Amino acid sequence: MANGTQPRAQWASRLGFILAAAGSAVGLGNIWKFPYIAGENGGGAFVLVYLVCIAVVGLPIMMAELMIGRHTQRDAVGAFYHLAGKRSFWPSAGWISVGAAFIICSYYSVVAGWTLDYVFRAVTGSFTGQPAEAIEGMFGSLVGDGTRQLIWHFIFVALCLGIVIGGVQKGIERWSKILMPILFCLLFLLFMNGMLSKGAWDGISFMFSPDFSKLTAGSVLEALGHAFFTLSLGMAAMITYGSYLDPKEDLLGASVRVVFLDTLIALMAGLAIFSVVFSVGMEPAAGPGLVFKTIPVVFSQLPGGYVLAIIFFLLLSFAALTSNISLLESQVAFLIDEKGWSRKRATTFLAGLAFVVGIPTALSYNALSGWTPIGDLTFFDSADMIASNYLLPISGLLIAIYVGWFWSGSEEKEELIAGGTGWVYPAWHFLIRYVSPLAVATVLYFKMKETGLFTWLASLFG
Ligand code: PFF
Repeated sequence: MANGTQPRAQWASRLGFILAAAGSAVGLGNIWKFPYIAGENGGGAFVLVYLVCIAVVGLPIMMAELMIGRHTQRDAVGAFYHLAGKRSFWPSAGWISVGAAFIICSYYSVVAGWTLDYVFRAVTGSFTGQPAEAIEGMFGSLVGDGTRQLIWHFIFVALCLGIVIGGVQKGIERWSKILMPILFCLLFLLFMNGMLSKGAWDGISFMFSPDFSKLTAGSVLEALGHAFFTLSLGMAAMITYGSYLDPKEDLLGASVRVVFLDTLIALMAGLAIFSVVFSVGMEPAAGPGLVFKTIPVVFSQLPGGYVLAIIFFLLLSFAALTSNISLLESQVAFLIDEKGWSRKRATTFLAGLAFVVGIPTALSYNALSGWTPIGDLTFFDSADMIASNYLLPISGLLIAIYVGWFWSGSEEKEELIAGGTGWVYPAWHFLIRYVSPLAVATVLYFKMKETGLFTWLASLFG
């Protein structure tokens, strides 16, 4: 019971939950980030390490988050109040998760706005017949244009608001059931297009032929950090979605399906992108350039490129939309469960706030480019740095330690037994107790070092 008054919302079906959770996991991270970090870090060798990270760290933490949510039937903060007591230290894990969701939601919506802008450009044929430099220049002109970004940012936040306000079944689940199959079909078309192009083999070998010489300790950390982001861990999303799960649901089976879909889609996206890039003899650029510069140029040179570009940017927009609704829902659940707000009020308030806090992000490469809150990072980069490098691993670490070491007695075991998969408990418990915390603590340590936190602290203390 939420607030002791209304019955708690629940997913209408298992498929609905899996599609919603996969919708959260499959996002810009899969289609844009995974391909280029795999490419930069030795292709196949990196993919191998990434798969190991997903299996031994990502999957156990996802199961832990779903368990916490389902067991407590609460938002991420309330879940820890319920488990460990309001005055204990552990609710900080929930606060950090909801805080991370809040920060990421604001800038994710701005980047998602870019994808909408590119859908619009693709539909209006802006890329057709244009020289490569002109197409590449469009990205610079977009991020240089604050007003244009704010309009798309607003539209994107409004779309999320429209979905989340409908509630768990009639909003999130319903739209996930519509958007995710379309997303998969769009990706499949692009994948087939890539596999039938003459760059297919180059794409496959770029992604899968292991070049261990390019694999450094840094790549392993990158793989682990990305495993977190791509599975939406440490951001309250899986705790919140888990809280709408049926008590008898098989958590292992559900988590494996979500992780499998997320990984499959990342690999297919990588192959779809690299094969066409190689087919026109281009080099895969890194970073946002890959998606917003290289891809439109590639499509403009291919027969059927007009349609392919629309498909590609629609795919990105849908992926971003289902991810962002989970970020918004995680915060909405907090206001509903802990503050007793109505869904309508909570969603409207938080969507408004996401828009406002996203404004400096949208202005980070134009009007506010001189504003660097941390070091030489713009507002956008600072927000991303704090959320991705610090908040996510910290909350992930706290969750793993709490579940592995402090969750009392057999409650977590019962969560697995309820779904008929009690046999996995010893292996899962070993991973969540030893492997996940160690791995996440290592990432955190190196991120702190890399971002100069230690140097900064040393300078503070003379
Ligand atoms: N998993 C999403 C991606 O790969 O793009 C990002 C994300 C969405 C992270 C929702 C966290 C979250 F709660």
